[in-house]
Amino acid sequence: APAKAVVVAIDGPAASGKGTLSQRIAGAFGFAHLDTGVLYRAVGVSVLRAGGDPADNAAAARAAYELHPEHPILQEVALRTDEAAQAASKVAAVPEVRAALLDFQRRFAAHPPGGAPGAVLDGRDIGTVVCPDAQAKLFVTASVEVRAERRLRELQRRGIPAISSDVLEDMKSRDARDSQRAVAPLRPAADAFVLDTSALDADQVFSMAVAHIGSKTGLK
Ligand code: DC
Repeated sequence: APAKAVVVAIDGPAASGKGTLSQRIAGAFGFAHLDTGVLYRAVGVSVLRAGGDPADNAAAARAAYELHPEHPILQEVALRTDEAAQAASKVAAVPEVRAALLDFQRRFAAHPPGGAPGAVLDGRDIGTVVCPDAQAKLFVTASVEVRAERRLRELQRRGIPAISSDVLEDMKSRDARDSQRAVAPLRPAADAFVLDTSALDADQVFSMAVAHIGSKTGLK
């Protein structure tokens, strides 16, 4: 049987830089990468498209049970919008949704696609709930002002008009919802390496993360 897959858990709030970091880590170690926020976004968008309310538990649970790895919605650019993010953050508070997506995520971690020797999962509760036995756990964070500024610049780069104060308010409301929900709230695992990126650039964050993963797994 193949060796047990190495699992790297990367958690943190919106726009902390964890997505970019996760992709680079996966590339550097030859691991598969799962952006778990995409799953919640897909559930949120499915509910909206069906004319439902993302805060309606039954509708959200139904959409979550229908999601599977080959579902075409997972590839849609519509998942990247702020509307999708807000809907995702609402369905993410529904316990049945989290339970339905747990299997999907754990299967990916145990059997990374393409026979990769490891998997990087990024989200809010990977180190605490989804993969508590992950060999390396990172909690990537930054002040809400820095994260709102990064998000604003990203929107501008993509040609999407945005108002600075609105972006900051959206970030704060999503932070509050993600960290105050009853099930699997956003928080660092006790054994996570906390990386505050407020004053660091992407290359500095990457080398600190690689050093930490190396110390935990023996990989370089
Ligand atoms: O990382 P993101 O912005 O794509 O996540 C969208 C929403 O999904 C986020 O506000 C909270 C939720 N989410 C979650 O609850 N648990 C995860 N593991 C990933 C995302």
